[in-house]
Amino acid sequence: MNDQEKQWQAQEITDFQTIFLKWYYQNKRYLPWRTTTNPYQIWISEIMSQQTRIETVVGYYHRFMEKYPTIEALAQAEESELLKVWEGLGYYSRARNLQIAAQQVMTTFAGEFPATITEIQSLKGIGPYTAGAIGSIAFSLPEPAIDGNLMRVGSRLFGIDADIAKASSRKVFDQAFREIISTESPGDMNQAFMDLGASVCTPKQPDCNNCPLSKFCYAYKTDTQEKYPVKTKKEPPKDVYYFVAVIENAVGELLIVQRPTQGLLANMWHFPLEEVSKVAFLEMKEKMTPQNQQGDLFLVAEEEVEPFPEFPVVWQKRHLGEVTHVFSHLKWHLLLFYGRTKEEIQLENSQWLKPLDFSQVVFPTMQQKLVKQWLENVNH
Ligand code: ADE
Repeated sequence: MNDQEKQWQAQEITDFQTIFLKWYYQNKRYLPWRTTTNPYQIWISEIMSQQTRIETVVGYYHRFMEKYPTIEALAQAEESELLKVWEGLGYYSRARNLQIAAQQVMTTFAGEFPATITEIQSLKGIGPYTAGAIGSIAFSLPEPAIDGNLMRVGSRLFGIDADIAKASSRKVFDQAFREIISTESPGDMNQAFMDLGASVCTPKQPDCNNCPLSKFCYAYKTDTQEKYPVKTKKEPPKDVYYFVAVIENAVGELLIVQRPTQGLLANMWHFPLEEVSKVAFLEMKEKMTPQNQQGDLFLVAEEEVEPFPEFPVVWQKRHLGEVTHVFSHLKWHLLLFYGRTKEEIQLENSQWLKPLDFSQVVFPTMQQKLVKQWLENVNH
């Protein structure tokens, strides 16, 4: 903790709680899960809100609750249907973990969502943040829900200069927030912090003039808002390069393949991909730009510009542009090609599907981007 940081006195804590909760009740965002303390609903909303904007979450949340209104329904869900409901939210392991945890609740806790922090955290996919959020909102446990937003707010409020990129800093924030959390309304207080972090105590240019906590805030009082939070730079995502084959057969169907059952985007469907080196990617991109293509688009590609030599396909002699997609630690660069089969292709874990039927399978966001790019750029 910062040298100048002092313990808050009991009176100051009471004032802070009164002022902050009053601000929350007057300013809180309307969110569908804020009208309930049902732990199942709170849990789903919290998992969906990780790495996803709240405005996006609301629609998904309603659809999810309609399809899986109870823990039991989720535990029994068909995986492909579950992933379909999750389609577009990304980080699909979240959906799979939800189902595993729902099954845990059914078997280990007799269908009753557990009500202690240790038990909540024993569920698959629930870490300290989510356990704190569910525990405080659904069960009124005086637990902080510490994520990046709360650490930013806390670093300014208390003058904490521990590096928020380091896992070990968490306990510093945990201690500080435990001192001040309301024991009567811990869930509201955590959500007040979430709202404050989203609308007032923002990463850049915090709106201190409209902040209910400015009179308690170390950074405001010392005019050091810009110094907080202390955060070392994360490694940038690693670049990975792929060629993508959109292959059409004689009846207008496109080839899609299913990923393995483990790993990134497990079980999801997309066009065939081939990982290539950065050099090969850039050379191909350059060779097959519109400026470098000659004549008929449907010429058999020259040997040197054959993107997928293993497939018996007549390629359009140009790529259809690049799509990029960031997974937490990887940046995929996807160069799109389009061609038609010369003879039948047999491939394991694949199917042929008309574009109109794409809605029947679960496509990750990266595949949806590819489909869009293809539709916009191909000459049919
Ligand atoms: N982000 C994560 N959980 C939230 C909640 N309950 N309210 C607002 N924003 C959130």
